[in-house]
Amino acid sequence: MKIVVIGGTGLIGTQVCKRLREGGHDVLSASPRSGVNAVTGEGLQTALKGADVVVDVANAPSFEDAAVLEFFEKSARNLAAAEKTAGVKHHVALSVVGTDRMLESGYFRAKMAQEEIIRKAGVPWSILRATQFFEFIGAIAQSGARGDTIRLTSAALQPIASVDVAAAMANIAVAPPTGKIEEVAGPDKQPLVSFATTYLQHTKDQRQVITDDQAGYYGAIIDDQSLTPGANPILGKIHFDQWLKSSSA
Ligand SMILES: NC(=O)c1ccc[n+]([C@@H]2O[C@H](COP(=O)([O-])OP(=O)(O)OC[C@H]3O[C@@H](n4cnc5c(N)ncnc54)[C@H](OP(=O)(O)O)[C@@H]3O)[C@@H](O)[C@H]2O)c1
Repeated sequence: MKIVVIGGTGLIGTQVCKRLREGGHDVLSASPRSGVNAVTGEGLQTALKGADVVVDVANAPSFEDAAVLEFFEKSARNLAAAEKTAGVKHHVALSVVGTDRMLESGYFRAKMAQEEIIRKAGVPWSILRATQFFEFIGAIAQSGARGDTIRLTSAALQPIASVDVAAAMANIAVAPPTGKIEEVAGPDKQPLVSFATTYLQHTKDQRQVITDDQAGYYGAIIDDQSLTPGANPILGKIHFDQWLKSSSA
């Protein structure tokens, strides 16, 4: 199968391309670095020629509300139009667990808009919503920092190694379209503040951590359900402590 991976140079995209190539597929990594821009449409028609499947794991360069909305709306529309012209049989996209519960946040509003365009576009689709990547826990911890203290919520997270997300995405890409939103999450659920504290201890960060449920998640107050999956998610295999030991964090 010819599979085009939009955002194939990114954290998830690199690993999805590797897995699909190992599976014997003809994989094209497409992103601005290789002259393919899903927001402007540049290079899309050529890249998608003869493609059976498009996997979209691109991410916006700016998370500012208007910019991120424009990124996900324009890229989803351009991809749908180019896929129809090319006769693509399956569009697979990566979204975030809790997208529909987090609409206070501009990033999640943009992901919701992307999902809605995909669902109505007329190209057979599958969407996978993932929880926060382990690689993102350091940034989550930093988001609560003010001077020498870090305030973080005790609401639950169930984060996952990016390699487990990539494996799930690659499996979905080579299966028939589901027309459904599935979820993938890590094997362990704990308070956000606990994951962050483990990370900070591992990186020998001396700052004081204060549990504060008003600290929220990038400006949105969250509870134990906000960012954790519903019934029967796909589960990643790698635990956070295992990942920390093997990562460069
Ligand atoms: N971070 C998390 O915890 C988390 C959790 C759940 C889901 N997700 C989702 O996972 C997805 C992938 O995230 P990631 O962390 O792997 O991203 P990333 O490492 O930041 O990579 C972003 C990718 O997007 C590409 N890109 C940027 N602008 C583009 C454009 N105009 N057209 C086409 N490609 C473009 C980049 O290409 P260049 O290298 O050429 O610039 C790069 O390949 C996102 O959709 C995100 O919403 C993230």
